[in-house]
Amino acid sequence: MKLLKMIFGICDTGGPSDEGCWSVSDHQIVVGMNRAKEILTPGGAVRLEGKGLSGKILLFHGLDGKFYAVKNKCTHIGGRRIDPTIEHDRLKCCSVMGSVFNYKGEVVSGPARKPLVSYPVTTESGRLIISLQKETA
Ligand code: FES
Repeated sequence: MKLLKMIFGICDTGGPSDEGCWSVSDHQIVVGMNRAKEILTPGGAVRLEGKGLSGKILLFHGLDGKFYAVKNKCTHIGGRRIDPTIEHDRLKCCSVMGSVFNYKGEVVSGPARKPLVSYPVTTESGRLIISLQKETA
């Protein structure tokens, strides 16, 4: 099953169970932490897609306790989605080639050569703010 998922590029991370937990406005994504239960514990993650976003975002709670957001598109030719790994502070492409990145989006291993685009995440009054204007790569 795992191999089939890798062949078809099916990632483990899903969207939030409460789609109303996030919104997009003024070049930022706002996520209500009390409604986004998937990211409450370290290792948790959600895919944010749609709602007028020009791309796909992976928001995750790092094993270091911090929140991170990256463009959810591997920089290798397949452009597959990314999952956080449970046991290490790494992100992994869901393809067979499985490029690995650190939390900053830098390539650790695999065929990808360019880093993932990442976005700053700040916490404010129980909300996570992802700034889409300040992407780094
Ligand atoms: S698409 Fe990620 S390693 Fe090929």
